[in-house]
Amino acid sequence: MTGLLSIPSDTLARAGVAYVHYLSFMVCFGALVLERRILKPSPDRREAIAMVITDVVYGIAALALLVSGILRVVHYAQPTPFYTENPLFWWKVGLYLSVGALSLYPTITYILWAIPLRKGELPQVSDALARRLGWIINIEIAGFALIPFLATLMARGVGLPAA
Ligand code: HEM
Repeated sequence: MTGLLSIPSDTLARAGVAYVHYLSFMVCFGALVLERRILKPSPDRREAIAMVITDVVYGIAALALLVSGILRVVHYAQPTPFYTENPLFWWKVGLYLSVGALSLYPTITYILWAIPLRKGELPQVSDALARRLGWIINIEIAGFALIPFLATLMARGVGLPAA
């Protein structure tokens, strides 16, 4: 079957899923960098809300990244064992999950900020909390920069056991 501009629709679907994977990766990275830039002790209302929004955008993009990644493994790229039999793939998944686990701390912190913000009050952000959040986001950004390297190796079959 052919679709847009007589490109086979299966090719379009593969390209579309790959595009969502790249786009969500870029949005995740951008949101994290922005969140890191905005982060500071004793933020005003606008800054606190901007941090919460960057974290929500990051969370949605991270979910799209995961879903598009899983779709590529099960259908829209190479046959599934090409990935699941490659330890580099599992390193990639592990790194993604570790970054995701690290994100829980900032996310829970921001969810708790919603309470004072809704009452028109400001969240209490000490120097120590801002520094801790800053370090966590730095590590997340480094993780996000490293994952594509594993992805590019994995996509070329590096790490696969010899047939
Ligand atoms: C658990 C989550 C993820 C899964 C299951 C997954 C899965 C995949 C799959 C199956 C491919 C296709 C490889 C091919 O073309 O043969 C791929 C490519 C890619 N992924 Fe992911 N991915 C995940 C998370 C991520 C993350 C977090 C990033 C970036 C930070 C990322 C960046 C990339 C890049 C850059 C490519 C293209 C590699 C290339 O074609 O050279 N992925 N991913």
